Amino acid sequence: MAQFDMLESVKKVEAAREANLLFEPKRMTAEEKDALLVAYHPDYKKEEFEALKIGANRGDPVPHELAAVLEGRPRITPADVDLTRIDHDCDVLIIGGGGAGISAALEAEQNGERVLVVTKLRVGDANTMMAEGGIQAADKPNDSPAIHYLDAFGGGHFAAKPELLVKLVSEAPDAILWLNKLGVEFDKAPDGTMITTHGGGTSRKRMHAARDYTGAEIMRTLRDEALNRNIAIVDFTAAVELLTDTEGKCAGAVLMNMETGELTVARAKTVILATGGAGRMHYQGFPTSNHYGATADGLALGYRVGAKLLYADTLQYHPTGAAYPEQIFGALVTEKVRSLGAKLVNAEGEVFMHPLETRDVAAAAIIRECSDRQKGVKTASGCGVWLDTPMIEMLGGEGTILARIPAMHRMFEKYGIDIRKEPILVYPTLHYQNGGLDITPDGMTAVENLYAAGEVVGGIHGRNRLMGNSLLDVIVFGRSAGKHASEKAKSVTKAESLSLCRLEEWEKERTAAGIENETPSPKLLPVYSHGNPLFQKKYF
Ligand code: FUM
Repeated sequence: MAQFDMLESVKKVEAAREANLLFEPKRMTAEEKDALLVAYHPDYKKEEFEALKIGANRGDPVPHELAAVLEGRPRITPADVDLTRIDHDCDVLIIGGGGAGISAALEAEQNGERVLVVTKLRVGDANTMMAEGGIQAADKPNDSPAIHYLDAFGGGHFAAKPELLVKLVSEAPDAILWLNKLGVEFDKAPDGTMITTHGGGTSRKRMHAARDYTGAEIMRTLRDEALNRNIAIVDFTAAVELLTDTEGKCAGAVLMNMETGELTVARAKTVILATGGAGRMHYQGFPTSNHYGATADGLALGYRVGAKLLYADTLQYHPTGAAYPEQIFGALVTEKVRSLGAKLVNAEGEVFMHPLETRDVAAAAIIRECSDRQKGVKTASGCGVWLDTPMIEMLGGEGTILARIPAMHRMFEKYGIDIRKEPILVYPTLHYQNGGLDITPDGMTAVENLYAAGEVVGGIHGRNRLMGNSLLDVIVFGRSAGKHASEKAKSVTKAESLSLCRLEEWEKERTAAGIENETPSPKLLPVYSHGNPLFQKKYF
């Protein structure tokens, strides 16, 4: 495979920069995009998927790594826990302390119900905190929720559940107002109007941001609000199994102290799964932009009690993960860098695509440059292409980078790279779980009294998500799940007896299907000690 020397290649990028800045790359046709995806996008590598053998989605393809967890060995058996001893009694149990979980908690508490949030790390250790570029909402005069819908529906390959996407885009302007009122410091012009930019696949500038710390700013605000309202939060406590009542309705969870391993029982009238994404599953050996706890736990917990999955075979590989230096391999380089004018350039100094194609298309195009086209730049762990960041200051003027994307500047400056003067190397990184638990618009799964919100949900975005629609969905669907689960809780009688009978049935199904897989489920944390899952398979 031809690989280019980094310093030689930088010279080519610099020499071509003026011309590249003026060059307007063509958008791909639908046919070109489809062909590119089939040939290069990781979702299309059939050998990386297998059919589930048991559960509501038996026969459906999922990544091997996810199948291992979904059909894995539950962490407890009914004999391990005394279900007559209730350690936590609440109305609404929320599993997960990220953006969706805390939004749900705020609404459920507002509705007068007793809320308990449990989180396996600390509140705010979540992908929401890691989100950088922005949150979409059609709240400008030249825009509308209908246009937002069309962008997202097309970007998601027309596979989104219409009723979920309608809800997402219709409630987006109110989500921004809610966050603004709670105290999120959105970027604003001197007259107080919100500054908005484009993202990949958007036809209007509707990305609201807090520089490139948008998720951290939103999470900070939500967390402060929850703490100020004294909402009960138990951290370093994971859910390891969901509990049902005698009719099979969800009625709580078995919790595990992450430090001591002690098991406790939480009883609830309704339960909201808000456990987030799955980047730490390192599907196909990819690095990830996700936080340490993103291990698909909610999918395993929900699936075991009968919830259905939707599109669990589709993942988002963010086109621009850091490919160099190695210390930040896979870290997110926000799409906002491209929104502000940086173009993607190969090792020869050629602009090889429009910078704001949708993410799946952009990721596939970068993989093609690094593989078949052999126009990538060699790194210790593989390959990358250039994101020509000095273009941003040439277009926007000196100071644009520090004013608009200070986090990016800081991330690279630590390693002696000044992105105002030097381009950066990028390669796709596992970023988002497009699929997840299937829900109704009020957030309920196929299991009565079990709700889900945030990245654990599938179907809102179809088979590919646009930038800024995830921060939006954690707010819209988090709040909505909080409202509906707390309303439902008012009419639910607390379970007199709790049951793990679904777990017993599950074990029988595993045996009948001949599953001998002993992978602990849910995974809870990534394992790096027995050989790094990264670097085992490569697309370079
Ligand atoms: O590129 C980004 O800033 C990521 C945003 C998102 O996933 O929505």
